[in-house]
Amino acid sequence: MPWLPVLHRPEEDLWFFSTMVLPEEMVLVARENTQPVGFISSHQGWLNHLYIAPDRWGMGLGSRLLEAARSETDHLQLWVFQDNMKARHFYSKHGFCERAFTDGRGNEEKVPDLRMEWSRDS
Ligand SMILES: CC(C)(COP(=O)(O)OP(=O)(O)OC[C@H]1O[C@@H](n2cnc3c(N)ncnc32)[C@H](O)[C@@H]1OP(=O)(O)O)[C@@H](O)C(=O)NCCC(=O)NCCS
Repeated sequence: MPWLPVLHRPEEDLWFFSTMVLPEEMVLVARENTQPVGFISSHQGWLNHLYIAPDRWGMGLGSRLLEAARSETDHLQLWVFQDNMKARHFYSKHGFCERAFTDGRGNEEKVPDLRMEWSRDS
């Protein structure tokens, strides 16, 4: 996502994931042997992270992680950057609807984003 400003140092990311994400959220990791190649995290109906290693894109890993996370819930929403067309296409194909667009003032990166939503019964 080259259009995104880099806001945090790697050690800040490590702190965030070890103290906030891992203890609080449901986190599923895709591995090839012992090598992590992607992960998804969700919490209280929000899909907060989904990242696949770029050299593994298009191999179905993102779909499998999303299905695994969805098996735990009937409703999920998420924020995605508007310029992230690959992710928007991916979520749309998996039944998410684009609900609300923002100018980015409310997010940390100050980059326009949008809320997408999926419900099992829709
Ligand atoms: C968006 C993202 C999570 C998708 O993950 P992915 O593993 O590439 O997704 P999938 O492989 O399941 O599906 C992507 C495409 O591969 C195709 N595909 C799925 N299984 C496949 C298989 N076995 N063989 C070949 N192609 C396959 C899908 O049909 C889909 O095609 P599309 O181009 O029509 O969308 C990934 O690109 C990513 O990590 N992006 C960067 C981070 C990001 O943007 N995260 C979202 C933040 S909100």
